[in-house]
Amino acid sequence: MAFRSRSGPHAANRMHCRDRERSGVSGKLARRRRADQEGLRPVPHPGAGDRGPAAAGRSLAPPRQGRHAAPQNGGMAHIELRSDNTAGVAPEILAAIVAANTGTAIAYGGDAWTARLQETVRTVFEHPGARVFPVTSGTAANALALSAMCPPWGAVLCHETAHILNSEAAATSMMGGGLLLRGVAGDDHRMQPATLAEAFAATRWGDNHHSQPRVLSFTQPTDMGTIYRVDELGALTSAARGQGLRVHLDGARIANAIVALGCRPADMTWRAGIDVVSLGATKNGALSAEAIVSFDDAVSDELVYRTKRAGHVTSKMRFQSAQLDAYLTDDLWLRLAARSNARMRQLGDGLRALGVGFLNRPDVNMLFVQVDDTVATALERAGLLFYRIRPGVIRLVTGWQTTEDDIDRALAAFAHALR
Ligand SMILES: Cc1ncc(COP(=O)(O)O)c(C=O)c1O
Repeated sequence: MAFRSRSGPHAANRMHCRDRERSGVSGKLARRRRADQEGLRPVPHPGAGDRGPAAAGRSLAPPRQGRHAAPQNGGMAHIELRSDNTAGVAPEILAAIVAANTGTAIAYGGDAWTARLQETVRTVFEHPGARVFPVTSGTAANALALSAMCPPWGAVLCHETAHILNSEAAATSMMGGGLLLRGVAGDDHRMQPATLAEAFAATRWGDNHHSQPRVLSFTQPTDMGTIYRVDELGALTSAARGQGLRVHLDGARIANAIVALGCRPADMTWRAGIDVVSLGATKNGALSAEAIVSFDDAVSDELVYRTKRAGHVTSKMRFQSAQLDAYLTDDLWLRLAARSNARMRQLGDGLRALGVGFLNRPDVNMLFVQVDDTVATALERAGLLFYRIRPGVIRLVTGWQTTEDDIDRALAAFAHALR
């Protein structure tokens, strides 16, 4: 793994965000909210310490400007590399919404689009018993799936950097009636058989004073852009099953991982021992449409009621189902992910040629890049939009909308900033 660094002494840091907020939420609050939701841990702005420890890492916004303030980069077009969540809706998905907008349809999933989605999921995942539950966010997918898989006295084991543990405000614990999320160590932000074995060894099995591990949850790709190979997943799921655990996969970006590994969706999921998948679509071109895909009938039966109680059986489900069906049809999800992965490869190759170091390999659409603070500031001035993670590390993310020209311009900005 490349680890060359151009980082010098770390100056102070802050979350980058030049675009003006368009919502009613204050820019400062919205920036913080976005960073939190994406699992980013901003570091204090210079002077945050002056305001005491409580302020550190919280009030990170640059000086407030009006909603229509001039861009700070002299009017140059921005290059969007903050997140795949910033992208719009893929035209094919928008067309599917429009096509579904004809006449009336039975509410709450009793419509033809939802029935078709059910069949499409079974075909794409090559599993005749798979059942799909559309929901509106990745957090809902994770929390509902895991609450249906784990009793309230149980524990969900996941990597200690997992999104469910660090960035979902304990939604899974709430939905799961207080179930525990327990972090497992592991290099590269991935659990390994040895670290999972350590977690099992540290468990007081059968002791009713302690939560009992009942689920193992993967994030694929991880929040830090690394991926589990299919055989690595299989080794871990076998170990989990040996202890009587079910297995969940947070697939907020699963399409990017499938494309990177060149495997079939079934190989990365049920054939590798995964029982339930949180199937991401929004980051990759959908409009607030995600799904839980369950290969386990007992979990599916639970989800019928849990999704309703949590308010995710939407009355106009046809519009979510139409999106998800279009997303999975003719490999659209994989084609969109292939685009963002390709743009990240282009970026990674270019940065490597410039001598820039990374913390992860550019296998999917996220790259954690080592640049010192003055370089980061110069990149911001050139119009590059990204998040600062900690002193000396920025995160760059490509999406289905990222163009070759965007990446060429980003690389030109790097070349200039590194001079
Ligand atoms: C790995 C991962 N899982 C889950 C989520 C949650 O998705 P949402 O923001 O739609 O709730 C995210 C969002 O950034 C994520 O990165």
